[in-house]
Amino acid sequence: MAEIEYTLEQKRDLKTSIPGPKSVELAERRSNAVASGVASSVPVYADKLDGGVILDADGNQLIDLGSGIAVTSVGASAPKVVEKVKEAVEKFTHTCFMVTPYEGYVAVGEKIAELTPGSFDKRAALFNSGSEAVENAVKIARTYTKRSAVVVFDHAYHGRTNLTLAMTSKVMPYKQGFGPFASDVYRVPMSYPFRDADGMTGQEAAERALLLIEKQVGAENVAAVVIEPIQGEGGFIVPAEGFLPTLTKWCQDNGAVFVADEVQAGIARTGTWFSSEWEASSPTW
Ligand SMILES: Cc1ncc(COP(=O)(O)O)c(C=O)c1O
Repeated sequence: MAEIEYTLEQKRDLKTSIPGPKSVELAERRSNAVASGVASSVPVYADKLDGGVILDADGNQLIDLGSGIAVTSVGASAPKVVEKVKEAVEKFTHTCFMVTPYEGYVAVGEKIAELTPGSFDKRAALFNSGSEAVENAVKIARTYTKRSAVVVFDHAYHGRTNLTLAMTSKVMPYKQGFGPFASDVYRVPMSYPFRDADGMTGQEAAERALLLIEKQVGAENVAAVVIEPIQGEGGFIVPAEGFLPTLTKWCQDNGAVFVADEVQAGIARTGTWFSSEWEASSPTW
């Protein structure tokens, strides 16, 4: 791998107590300017980040174990990313693709088609956040199938908008006080090898979920089965082998859309571009 040149030495180096005086002052300004519902995990304020190190407002260097909830795996200000962002904003900051299209959007669509699993014909639509992407997947599935039911799984996390909160499993801490939530969302058991009966196969776990879908929801009502191929917020749950292909086959046989929510596990976080690729050799994938 080529040697990376960092602008910050990649080490922890404390100059003040934590939080330092400038971070304390910023926290005071924040309390008057930022809504209290927006929380932060650490008490220091970032000034610059590079590689895996945060330089805070007081000149302390800290190891960045958060990395923007694990989204800056190539480094916090990777030169190639910075260069491409600069190049783009020098040309224009915004057109709204739905008003004035441009090549970059098309190029990202082409790249996504190349990287996502499956050799079939593909098209991409880009959104501002994971929640918005999940909501749109449901909208597309509903209008395509002319059905309304959305099947989701125990321990699932799909976002913080009203529909995606309905799809998210845990009330505490995500949903508390924010209901009522969107209807026509049905929850079935996930394959959870650590807690499932000893030796339960992926196919058996899928059949357990499908039995509930068929008996309680009705196959003909299911617009979409939405799942994190490897669950994130629910506790990093890797389903037993065969679980996902059995679900996709059922969707294909029953006219429902299978939606892989890769917002957390995707883009190389599990060792492949998309976490669904671990079962990509399945003929139904
Ligand atoms: C699996 C999954 N889906 C959806 C989301 C929502 O993404 P966003 O926070 O960008 O709306 C997340 C966020 O962590 C997620 O982990």
